[in-house]
Amino acid sequence: MLFFSLLLEVIWILAAEGGQQHWTYEGERTAPRAPAAPLPPGPLHLPSAGEFPSASAPAPPRSGPPGPKFTWRTPSPSSDRPAPYVPMGPRKPGVSSVSLCPHGQDHWPASHPECGSNAQSPIDIQTDSVTFDPELPALQLQGYDQPSTEPLDLHNNGHTVQLSLPPTMYLEGLPRKYVAAQLHLHWGETGSLGGSEHQINGEATAAELHIVHYDSDSYDSLSEAAPKPQGLAVLGILIEVGEAKNPVYEHILSHLHEIRHKDQKTSVPPFNVGELLPPQLNQFFRYNGSLTTPPCYQSVLWTVFNRRAQISMGQLEELQETLFSTEEEPSKLLVRNYRAPQPLNQRTVFASFIQVGSLYTTGEMLSLGVGILVGCLCLLLAVYFIARKIRKKRLGNRKTVVFTSAQTTEA
Ligand SMILES: *[C@@H]1O[C@H](CO)[C@@H](O)[C@H](O)[C@H]1NC(C)=O
Repeated sequence: MLFFSLLLEVIWILAAEGGQQHWTYEGERTAPRAPAAPLPPGPLHLPSAGEFPSASAPAPPRSGPPGPKFTWRTPSPSSDRPAPYVPMGPRKPGVSSVSLCPHGQDHWPASHPECGSNAQSPIDIQTDSVTFDPELPALQLQGYDQPSTEPLDLHNNGHTVQLSLPPTMYLEGLPRKYVAAQLHLHWGETGSLGGSEHQINGEATAAELHIVHYDSDSYDSLSEAAPKPQGLAVLGILIEVGEAKNPVYEHILSHLHEIRHKDQKTSVPPFNVGELLPPQLNQFFRYNGSLTTPPCYQSVLWTVFNRRAQISMGQLEELQETLFSTEEEPSKLLVRNYRAPQPLNQRTVFASFIQVGSLYTTGEMLSLGVGILVGCLCLLLAVYFIARKIRKKRLGNRKTVVFTSAQTTEA
């Protein structure tokens, strides 16, 4: 409102000068001002300090303020990542691993019908389609810092490397108490930066850690809980390649060479498992899904963290190049043990937070808007006061004229 009244005032003042006197210091006197358009109609356009007060060259029309971006979620997701994500052919759903694995994922439903059902995992989480749920309780990791005094079993089962976890580790913040049973990893082939199962906005990361828990209020064991609705709770941690070696992941990776072949086991001294997780555990996605390997039971309450854990390139290569999926020669590297994203179907993915990207850009847009407003206000004020000064000067002259003429009429 203030703007418009100011703007009107300015236009009025400028129009009052129209045809009578030029603002132009350097322009030709003979060029008449266009009286209707001293300023373009756009509500917030003002001449810049440079062009003011030249009237001989009307300011170019503008359609609106330049600022607001209407796409505020950047489509290039890897800008903040140390190593760019290399999109891989095999990551496209459907093409997945048919060619690389005789027991390809596409054939899972034949022997395990649930793998072809409609609430499968992993999924590609589209952040502009998630539902923000401010009621989602924070997840609390109990007993994660000191899992036990006993060594933990590390096992190459031919599909992944798996660490057994004791029931002294459990989760709070879910509908029931879920105790930990094991954790394992998924990764890609040698040299690939795409090995995670879950994706965020179509982007896979180098690897993914799954920490598997079961509902211990209702069931006595992982295997008993696994086929039951909501029987399992799995934490999904996306792992990307960073600059530094991650010392906590070394507790697992440094033992891989002891279990190179399928069915080999070793013991790992207990360590703080909680430190495998990324920062900002309060940012997570939650949805109902399944095991990502046969029998694909749809019993998993998934928590996928928004932030990533980081390991070094050397650590990723250790993961990609050390293990075999076979018991003996000929050895077959254990790689690409991730499942392709599955259709979301009618499921809702909840988010415990508002997307950082959009928040940031909203703030950006806000400050941009405020900046434009303040800038325009200052310019308007400047124009207003200058115009008023000039009008006062002219009114002074005009008054004399009017006064004289009035006198004449009265007389
Ligand atoms: C998962 O499914 C259960 C049972 O249908 C439902 O009560 C719960 O709200 C769902 N949770 C999520 C995160 O969708």
